[in-house]
Amino acid sequence: MKKAASGPAGVRDIEHLREEIRHHEYQYYVLDSPEIADAEFDLLMRSLKQLEAAHPELVTADSPTQRVGGKPLAGFNKLAHSRPMLSIDNVNSEEELREWDARVRSLATSLPGANPGKDNEVSYVCEYKLDGLSMALHYRGAAGPESNDKSSHLQRALTRGDGSIGEDVTSNVRTIRSVPLSVSAKKLAAANLPTGFEVRGEVVMPAAAFLRWNEEREAAGLAPAANPRNGAAGTIRTLEPNLVAQRRLDFYAYFALKPDGTNLFDDQAEALDALSTAGFRVNPHREAIRDIDRVLGFIARAEEQRVGLGYEIDGVVIKVASTALQQRLGYTGRAPRWAVAYKFSARSAVTRVEDIRVQVGRTGKLTPVAILTPVSIGGTTVARATLHNADEIARLNLKIGDLVTVERGGDVIPKVVEVVPRKDDDPHARHDFHFPTHCPVCNSEIVRAEGEVDHRCVNVDCPARLSESLLHFASRKVMNIEGLGEAVATQLLEQGFVKSIADLYSLDEPALLSLERIGEKTAQALLAQIEQSKRNPLKRVLFGLGIRFVGERTAQLLAEEFGSMDALMAATQPELERVNEVGPRVSQAIREFFDEHKNIELIERLRKAGLTFTAERKKKSSQLEGLTFVLTGTLPNLTREDAKARIEAAGGRVAGSVSKKTDYVVAGEEAGSKLDKATGLGVKILDEEALLQLLSN
Ligand code: IVH
Repeated sequence: MKKAASGPAGVRDIEHLREEIRHHEYQYYVLDSPEIADAEFDLLMRSLKQLEAAHPELVTADSPTQRVGGKPLAGFNKLAHSRPMLSIDNVNSEEELREWDARVRSLATSLPGANPGKDNEVSYVCEYKLDGLSMALHYRGAAGPESNDKSSHLQRALTRGDGSIGEDVTSNVRTIRSVPLSVSAKKLAAANLPTGFEVRGEVVMPAAAFLRWNEEREAAGLAPAANPRNGAAGTIRTLEPNLVAQRRLDFYAYFALKPDGTNLFDDQAEALDALSTAGFRVNPHREAIRDIDRVLGFIARAEEQRVGLGYEIDGVVIKVASTALQQRLGYTGRAPRWAVAYKFSARSAVTRVEDIRVQVGRTGKLTPVAILTPVSIGGTTVARATLHNADEIARLNLKIGDLVTVERGGDVIPKVVEVVPRKDDDPHARHDFHFPTHCPVCNSEIVRAEGEVDHRCVNVDCPARLSESLLHFASRKVMNIEGLGEAVATQLLEQGFVKSIADLYSLDEPALLSLERIGEKTAQALLAQIEQSKRNPLKRVLFGLGIRFVGERTAQLLAEEFGSMDALMAATQPELERVNEVGPRVSQAIREFFDEHKNIELIERLRKAGLTFTAERKKKSSQLEGLTFVLTGTLPNLTREDAKARIEAAGGRVAGSVSKKTDYVVAGEEAGSKLDKATGLGVKILDEEALLQLLSN
């Protein structure tokens, strides 16, 4: 390869590297078939970052390094769709589907413009109905007719919104790795696509991402999200592209349109193939089918495959293949006549609640679990279902002995959705469940703090808590101590080798060898893992301590803000709240944790063992240093907490009332007396936009 003329990091070298990275992103995120190891990929990415840092003038918007813009958003602009994004009519049975097919066939021959030789040969394309949210991506050529760049660039991503007007969520969608930031001229040509086009498809949260996210929510003391669709929808509407990038959303393309919203191709199957050729992820489960019996076969197979896909589908979409026929069939009200969704029945079953038991988690939280008469749902036997908390049991009006509907979505934990009304002749006894007043494991008192939904065991030494804490501490995302699973942890606790997390660091070979099923090799490997874990960064240690509400992300922010365990331990609540995302509830939990004598003991022992207690502090911005703000009224996009957090993150102070010392009043809708007072005192008034302007300086 010849080097470009402009030196070691010529435009061409850097573009070559970008192309290479794009290729591997495509292999990994679109085709699920990586050609190189993750570490190699990281290495390529790092070299690109270095090159770009040394030559900022060579950074392009479609560089793989530019997926996350970094800056939080102020809100989403509303923009019109090229053509309305409609929903489709549903059918739920074979009979209804056959009726739809008959209607399409009869219209195909009777509508004006029918061409008996061709168009009445109705053909369909069957696709999976992905359970996410629909999205329109606009791609455009580079600006300027004389530009050398003949590729196409992602210009805009719009949610469906009300169908006519969507929200511009481009910054968030750019973080989805299977969405190409640009399509090269070569790929455009191969796919027969013009430089300006629109792709519509579905943003989904894959099962693995959903599970991971729910684990994080739980670690942060939040209720688990109900399903991946809510996960995808909620994520796409957050104002932090950074967060979106971490959630690992995915995008599947299913329409290729001209910029005016009309179809680019004559046939839907052709459109899907073209999108795939252009580098978009297109669901491989698709088929062009002529007769409805075979469509039913496709549906049956889809339902069978549904469980192991790794993402949620809730049916099959059947589309008339020919664009010309689609046009002639047209629309009824809000849905096309040329497409229909065959919806699977919800994956649920009715069974009986035989008992309700209570589990103790690592924060001492008690979770009631319904013990069910085992029942098969979508091929798996379900014998337990979470009931979340006491309020949920009350809401369901659930009693032990009741028949209930249990639902299971994808890989989600089964849950009780409702109590089935009782028949008069049901011989089963039915009795109330009383939340225990004492811990089922250690018999300590159970408390429910005011304003909280959860009951918890107050005993910090509760064996149930310790075993859960230990497993959490050793888990992959925390200290990553391989080999310390449930079997080993239970033995360590039962044999009395571990009475506190810190005891892990004084384990020796003889102790491990005395456990069942542990030989010399295993023991040595485990000790090496424990030793190695000392090098984990402070954020992991913090996450591992199991402080309530301090999940992976909060731990990271705390480590960056305070830079050491000691600084964090000394921080007051207001100081803690200076961290983005830390509110009074979290700051109180942190304070309580560090005020507990037992916890200090634990930390000191971990310090002695040599764990990492310092971290690099993030440089703080200080553009608002010394300025005092007062917030009043409702801002169009930012919540008051958001606005406060951002001002403080930039070094400013937020006060409760207006005085001569106030520098700015940020006023939203229905601002009251504070605004009047500010006007009286001649204090400068900002609206949201002006505030954001100030923050971005
Ligand atoms: S076509 C006019 N194809 O299901 C036809 N939709 O109610 C519009 N969906 O809003 C949609 N997978 O969010 C189509 N392969 C697929 C789909 C799909 C999922 C969603 C989409 C749409 C809803 C239809």
